[in-house]
Amino acid sequence: MDHRKILVTSALPYANGDIHLGHLMEVIQTDIWVRMQKLQGHNCIYVCADDAHGTAIMLSAEAQKITPQELVDKVNQQHQRDFADFLIGFDNFHSTHSEENRLLSESIYQAINANGHISRRKIKQLFDPEKKLFLADRYITGTCPKCKAEDQYGDNCEVCGSTYNPSELIDPKSSISGATPIEKESEHFFFTLPAFSDMLKTWTRSGTLQDSVANKLSEWLDEELQEWDISRDAPYFGFEIPDAPGKYFYVWLDAPIGYMASLQNLCDRTDYDFDEYWNKDSQAEVYHFIGKDIINFHTLFWPAMLASAGYRTPTAVYVHGFLTVDGTKMSKSRGTFINARTYLDHLNPEYLRYFLAAKLSDGIDDLDLNLEDFAQRVNSDLVGKVVNIASRCAGFIGKGFEGKLAEKVDAPELLAEIQAAKPEITGYYNGREYSKAIRLIMTMADKANQYINDKQPWVIAKGDKQSAELQKICSTGINAFRLLIAYLKPVLPSMAEKAEAFLAIDPLNWADIDSLLTNHSINKFKPLMTRVESDKVQAMVAATQKEFENQAKSEPTGQQAEEKVMQSNNSGFEPEIEFDDFIKVDLRVAKVISAEYVEDADKLLQLNLDLGLDKSGTPLTRKVFSGIKSAYTPEQLVGKLTVVVANLKARKMKFGLSEGMILAAGPGGKDIWLIEPHAGAQPGMRIT
Ligand code: MSP
Ligand code: ZN
Repeated sequence: MDHRKILVTSALPYANGDIHLGHLMEVIQTDIWVRMQKLQGHNCIYVCADDAHGTAIMLSAEAQKITPQELVDKVNQQHQRDFADFLIGFDNFHSTHSEENRLLSESIYQAINANGHISRRKIKQLFDPEKKLFLADRYITGTCPKCKAEDQYGDNCEVCGSTYNPSELIDPKSSISGATPIEKESEHFFFTLPAFSDMLKTWTRSGTLQDSVANKLSEWLDEELQEWDISRDAPYFGFEIPDAPGKYFYVWLDAPIGYMASLQNLCDRTDYDFDEYWNKDSQAEVYHFIGKDIINFHTLFWPAMLASAGYRTPTAVYVHGFLTVDGTKMSKSRGTFINARTYLDHLNPEYLRYFLAAKLSDGIDDLDLNLEDFAQRVNSDLVGKVVNIASRCAGFIGKGFEGKLAEKVDAPELLAEIQAAKPEITGYYNGREYSKAIRLIMTMADKANQYINDKQPWVIAKGDKQSAELQKICSTGINAFRLLIAYLKPVLPSMAEKAEAFLAIDPLNWADIDSLLTNHSINKFKPLMTRVESDKVQAMVAATQKEFENQAKSEPTGQQAEEKVMQSNNSGFEPEIEFDDFIKVDLRVAKVISAEYVEDADKLLQLNLDLGLDKSGTPLTRKVFSGIKSAYTPEQLVGKLTVVVANLKARKMKFGLSEGMILAAGPGGKDIWLIEPHAGAQPGMRIT
């Protein structure tokens, strides 16, 4: 057996918020993989840390009237406790606000600078004259210069989708102080990313990334890369740049270095050797597990920085999708933005570990936690199938044979079949195709249960509690159970530990799957896992809703801006809205009466819509422009039913007035689909 040296990381959670189920999906995915490596006998270390720097954390501390240091210390403890309670087996959990990280960040910066990969130039930015700080785009709101929609962020308009510079906003306001920002110039430091264009084209195509991720990146790499602004002006919570008073490293510069710093901190306390992992000629493997919202930081900036500073680059970056709950983005008001602690107050962490494992793949698709599905899945698989095998056999072994397993099993072929699944299951785990591993394990559990059904040990026991046949049958069942537990151990470490105590065996590892347990005394069976009760799931949702209401009542306004930022960070979804906002949207069934091309417009078609009759019985029509020309011809649209936002304020567009908006979905191009109500719907029907 080879003993590979492996270093694994999960992305560093920001130190200004609680750990929630989205974070947990990532660390559980990583932890299962790490446990799997360890069970196989590899020398694998798993490190993480809090991402402690940046404006958001500075403002958060201020709102709580504590120092940033106090905030990050407090949060670090909470994060560690949450992770430990979800059985995340970090070898070290550190912080980016640490001495190790300061030293590494400084030395990496100095190396990059010495290589000529840092440029400096002055840039103009919006500045909050009251708060005396430069405003990142997301801290500025104002009126969209294109469509005049109010209350838009500094970089793009959520109404018309245009992007712009914050200085182009009409009537801009700082969302921190409410003051009108002024333009101010200051010198910034840039990492010359374009110098690494060729290196990155090679690196991203050298087996380091999933195909879908590499494809996405090649779109960026085909265009010209931009220099990366790595400095921020004081006041900033972070590390001051050497020889540049008042200039700080941008949080994303020292964040990935935090992976190294956490390892350094571990090495300083143990026999691990930092250089073995990070030297240019390192033979160790380095893997980063991240979400799809932070791909560019890990697959462009980070490998380029490492290359410039003379370190090795990661072996691979494994990207996952986002966790949704009950089909939509986690939402506080719906009670589905569930914090780790709230979950733990109501439910067993291994339920979630199992459910996620049963759903996770090696892809970047989002994963839905449907709460009904969750209870059902855990109950039927773990309680109904796996634990059931032991509970059906253990009693007879206890009563008839003083806990002793037979010398020979009754169905060696059944156990051999379960053992023979090992290479396939191993491959699935190592390839992060956990759902496939779980499916195969459950097929084996079904076979074991079927075997017990067929043999009916309870019938034999009624005749003779001490029959040799009974002992051999139940020993077969117990052995099947032991093998299944070994297979599930990366996912269910605590349940495995309880099973090991029941079986009176040493901790199982992957090699133990090749052997059987015979002529061995086991302990009395205690239930290893109880069913998920749906009222506990509901209580968790209710508790989450309550937290949200209390928070909304008590929160200082600065914190609310933070909240908005956090949500808009969550990639791909709009910030959540109140029910009252939603109910204002008047959605109606509309029928396309006619459709035509719009001269000079690349994307638009003009549609005439029939909205039924108004209150006085007069036919109601609307003229709207819609960007679906790439997917539909006018002829295809005539007669179709769709859904229109009927009370959208008319907007003047370059090509005329648009009196509403129709709903369509899809990534774009040919793949845009009109939302089509059931054919029985009538124009004008309200959609509720
Ligand atoms: N601090 C940065 C990462 C720095 S790594 C050098 C950050 N922090 S985060 O707290 O916003 O996110 C941490 C990780 O959790 C990221 O990989 C992110 O993709 C992941 N997730 C956050 N919400 C998530 C879901 N809803 N679902 C799955 N993963 C999600 O980004
Ligand atoms: Zn706009």
